[in-house]
Amino acid sequence: MSTVRVDPADRLRGDLRPPTDKSISHRAAILGAMAAEPVRIRGFLDAADTNSTLQAVQRLGALVQVGADEVLVRGTGLRDAAVADDPIDVGNAGTLMRLLPGWLAAQEGRSYTLDGDDSIRRRPVDRIAEPLRLMGARVDATDGRRPPFTIGGARLRSIHYELPVASAQVKSCVLLAALAADGATTVSEPAPSRDHTERMLAAAGVTVHRNGRHITVAGTDELTLDELVVPGDASSAAFAIAAGVLVPGSRLVLRGVGVNWTRSGFVRIAQRMGAIVIGDLEDEPGDEVAATEPVSDVDITAGPLVGTVVEPEEVPLAIDELPLVALLGCFAEGETIVRGAHELRLKESDRIATVVDGLSALGATIEATEDGFVVTGSGGLRGGRISSHGDHRLAMLGAIAGLASREGVEVEGMEAADVSYPGFMDDMARLM
Ligand code: S3P
Repeated sequence: MSTVRVDPADRLRGDLRPPTDKSISHRAAILGAMAAEPVRIRGFLDAADTNSTLQAVQRLGALVQVGADEVLVRGTGLRDAAVADDPIDVGNAGTLMRLLPGWLAAQEGRSYTLDGDDSIRRRPVDRIAEPLRLMGARVDATDGRRPPFTIGGARLRSIHYELPVASAQVKSCVLLAALAADGATTVSEPAPSRDHTERMLAAAGVTVHRNGRHITVAGTDELTLDELVVPGDASSAAFAIAAGVLVPGSRLVLRGVGVNWTRSGFVRIAQRMGAIVIGDLEDEPGDEVAATEPVSDVDITAGPLVGTVVEPEEVPLAIDELPLVALLGCFAEGETIVRGAHELRLKESDRIATVVDGLSALGATIEATEDGFVVTGSGGLRGGRISSHGDHRLAMLGAIAGLASREGVEVEGMEAADVSYPGFMDDMARLM
């Protein structure tokens, strides 16, 4: 495990192109594998998590050719994934673990076991097991709810599924299974969550409709996708945005950032706190399902912040950035409260506990609640030592806290950042 010391920065200046989107890359590789014709993926993220997905789809019979600017996936079609006798390793990738079973459930007469690292083995899969069983698949999980787990494929029936929590991963799993089901499947979400799967299905010629919180997908025989372009990752960009907002005197431009409304909740929260973040952000869409992902440059200027309240319906739109909301809260005037975010406890670490313990050790006044946290701004952070707990977003949180702190921060386990943002520290160093 490597410990990296991050010294306070004077001011940050310059341009940065964040890595491409992890969520969209996972989906592109999986849909590419489900398609019968080759799919060209431009800007596929080259990071540990998404490389786990490329390896998994290869195990399932897809041919993958990795070039300098694109990844070419030659899939097997919806119902013809190859037999995999040994467990498929999802590594640290929760998205892979929850989306792939949607495809596997449709492989009649074949069963597949999924397993991953120690962090993955703590994360629940019962939330995808339930709808897949209702569709006719068999799912057997360790202790009824964790990996390793086995999916027995079947001829699937369409369902109407009410998601118990707003989770794009669970929604996507059901929508992928729906492709091979008889008839049309509807998934109802309690609040909007990221909609990359819906957009990519629309791009693949699938009939996908949204009616308020209900999304309906018709069964199909094939996906028709020639080319997919992956934009910059809004969640990775959020770390640089936070740094630009917090380090006095900073002025940054981030290039090619994905600005899908379902991913830009953090920017809206930061703007509400007074941050100057300017970009051509997508407006809240109506019921029409777009077949593309919007992209924009984003300009950031440092400035003073005030506390805010993040309400439950905003949580899915900023779920991976809530640790950064806590960090902004440390520098803001007054209280910053996040509620309705129990899901944070089920991420790569229990992110309510790890964020609260981590930032407290750096001098923050922050308290955990059952479903979020309360931060009392104290004009900044002293600094100190923080552990990533093997969680990429905690590692990067620690580094950004270091840049904005008075005394610097030592981050234990900085290498965890590689699962979504290889070269993160080099990018930050280039801005100094
Ligand atoms: C993801 C959805 C989110 C997010 C995760 C990636 C996705 O999880 O936290 O990092 O790609 O669908 P949930 O929607 O399950 O909360």
